Amino acid sequence: QHGGGSYLDPAKLVGKDLSNLTKNIQALLSSGHPVLNTVSKYYFTSEGKHIRPLIILLMSQATSIAPKQCSAAHADFFEIIDQPLSPVTTTARDGNSSLPTGSMDSTLYSPSRSPKGVTILPTQRRLAEITEMIHTASLLHDDVIDVSESRRNLPSANASYGNKLTILAGDFLLARASVALARLRNPEVIELLSTVIANLVEGEFMQLENVRGDGNMSTFEYYMDKTYMKTASLIAKSCRAASVLGGSTIEVCDIAYAYGRDLGLAFQLVDDMLDFIVTANELGKPVGADLKLGLATAPVLYAWEEYPELGPLINRKFSLEGDVEKARELVYRSEGIEKTRILAASHCQKAIAVISQLPESDARNALIQLTQKFDANSG
Ligand code: FPP
Ligand code: MG
Ligand code: MG
Repeated sequence: QHGGGSYLDPAKLVGKDLSNLTKNIQALLSSGHPVLNTVSKYYFTSEGKHIRPLIILLMSQATSIAPKQCSAAHADFFEIIDQPLSPVTTTARDGNSSLPTGSMDSTLYSPSRSPKGVTILPTQRRLAEITEMIHTASLLHDDVIDVSESRRNLPSANASYGNKLTILAGDFLLARASVALARLRNPEVIELLSTVIANLVEGEFMQLENVRGDGNMSTFEYYMDKTYMKTASLIAKSCRAASVLGGSTIEVCDIAYAYGRDLGLAFQLVDDMLDFIVTANELGKPVGADLKLGLATAPVLYAWEEYPELGPLINRKFSLEGDVEKARELVYRSEGIEKTRILAASHCQKAIAVISQLPESDARNALIQLTQKFDANSG
């Protein structure tokens, strides 16, 4: 029932739209300063997985044949989103009223249509780029906060250029993403993606400062709330934004959101689990980092249920000599890792169940398969 029998290659479905992603983002990031160009583009020069853009493009296709609440924007409207965001020199004006009339690649920004009438709108393609820019901005800031030395098997931006330039480059990414977002001329989508940026900061704050507003909230509930803020919100709200841009009904937008939310929660649960089980080489970034940063993620919180002696260590953020090693040992001895895997799998199943409500299409089935594959690989 789910996803049909045969394997659907997402690259075949949206590869054409995805292949220009990095090039388009780099164009959105051009500034008058060579070092700012280098640092802000740094994480776009190595090959990322582009999982968020992939999901957004597939969601755009999958919802394009679902019920609509109004007709989608006319093609003429799409021209503005392809105007350069600012002149490439700092001397020129870049006020709103004097947008430079750069070259427009009309093929790049016309809707791509597959034989069955499944489409990706230019605005949806731009949304995928905006989402990747926001995600990358958060990684630049995250690597500073986490004092991380590497990402994708390369030196981190902070290791290469220092904290100051890395923070500013992240800010610049957010700013350019915001301009591109405004160009979509859709207040609901602007609100969704702006809220994502706020949620990223809220999630990071929740992680740094374990202060619970609601006294009745359990530690695990707080952890899941934080996980929504720092990871799931971006995927959920950009999935919703894709369907909003396509003119979907509220019901369809809700489905897109719920899918992104559960998949995003599963992503972070698996990320937190992998921190305990894989090597640094496989991950391309330091492992065992969370305990060293004082963070108690799902595997530790589950282990705490079996080993109450973990409580004081969690409370003091593993700050005493030997705490990290002792906590790690208890996690391995406990069911914590397996329970985390099961929780991630249950969110994958929820995501699959909700997206299955969309009309049958290759894109919908690819989203289901991608979720199943992610679930299986995390085991
Ligand atoms: C990676 O988590 C980081 C995030 C999911 C979000 C980080 C958010 C901020 C730093 C808030 C401020 C930033 C912006 C742009 C608003 P991780 O450290 O668990 O993963 P990692 O192992 O990949 O480093
Ligand atoms: Mg980090
Ligand atoms: Mg972090």
